[in-house]
Amino acid sequence: MRDLAARVRAEVEKVVVGQGELVEQLLAAAVVGGHVLLEGPPGTAKTLLANALARALDVEFRRVQFTPDMLPSDLTGTTALRGGDLVFRPGPVFTNVLLADEINRTPPKTQAALLEAMQERQVSIDGETHPLRAPFLVLATQNPIEYEGTYPLPEAQLDRFLFKLELGYLPESDEIAILRLAHRGVSPPSLDSVRAVIRPEELEAAREAVDATAVSDEVAAFVVALVRKTRELPSVELGASPRAAVHLLAAARALARLSGRDFVTPDDVVDAARPVLRHRLVLRPEAELERYTAEDAVRAALASVPVPR
Ligand SMILES: Nc1ncnc2c1ncn2[C@@H]1O[C@H](COP(=O)(O)OP(=O)(O)O)[C@@H](O)[C@H]1O
Ligand SMILES: [Mg+2]
Repeated sequence: MRDLAARVRAEVEKVVVGQGELVEQLLAAAVVGGHVLLEGPPGTAKTLLANALARALDVEFRRVQFTPDMLPSDLTGTTALRGGDLVFRPGPVFTNVLLADEINRTPPKTQAALLEAMQERQVSIDGETHPLRAPFLVLATQNPIEYEGTYPLPEAQLDRFLFKLELGYLPESDEIAILRLAHRGVSPPSLDSVRAVIRPEELEAAREAVDATAVSDEVAAFVVALVRKTRELPSVELGASPRAAVHLLAAARALARLSGRDFVTPDDVVDAARPVLRHRLVLRPEAELERYTAEDAVRAALASVPVPR
């Protein structure tokens, strides 16, 4: 998987500057069948990154802009009468990499349709079940919480995302490097240079390797201790769920493989903890008033649980 990641990273980096680590995390999510929340200011290459990743993985990419008037069927599809027959017309969710842009601009009903598809990997319409494609990776972008007129995702739905990854502004030298890419006017560099570097069976093989990554009793206990700790912190109203523990271990296994190991170390768990846990914690209002963040809470949990040798 290490070699796979290096190949994908090299392709994506032809058009996206300075996000190599993020590319590896996205690949890890794709391999374990997780979905990702992407947060970042506009113009930080979220769309470009998703697009380039799909090309490198040699899979189909679709982008859906979520809007207040969007209906669940705009996402999942509809059944229509055609020539006397009922025909299913699949919606954009039937793809491999779906960029769900600004997911919190759409009302809960449509959000729920997406989250359900993510979870079930299938869509039921008019009593018929339609399986989604594999791989299926949702990258959902979010506006900042305080954005007016948005519908923040409920905690129960945030919990279904494997990672929350953040794209910030890059260092000055990287911003200069962006300008040095071959642009066409104001259009981004052509994605034609991004080649497909993965065969579908390689993703499947990577998943099997990740699932077979050894986990000692100490490491499993560490994962659970961390997750349970988040429920005890005085700043936290809602801590991480048992599902979060499953996600944390899967992510740690993928990180182990990305480092070329066939066993998980406590450091893999530590590295996975921030992107896996931070979006699932709900802080007490007092803590929030003091500008304490979910990330601080994850840090506090990490600091108070002893790392096994
Ligand atoms: N890290 C980056 N590497 C290369 N180009 C970038 C980068 N960040 C921004 N850009 C440029 O800015 C444009 C805006 O990116 P886009 O993917 O549309 O942003 P977002 O979806 O985050 O709003 C890109 O098409 C590209 O031209
Ligand atoms: Mg965009």
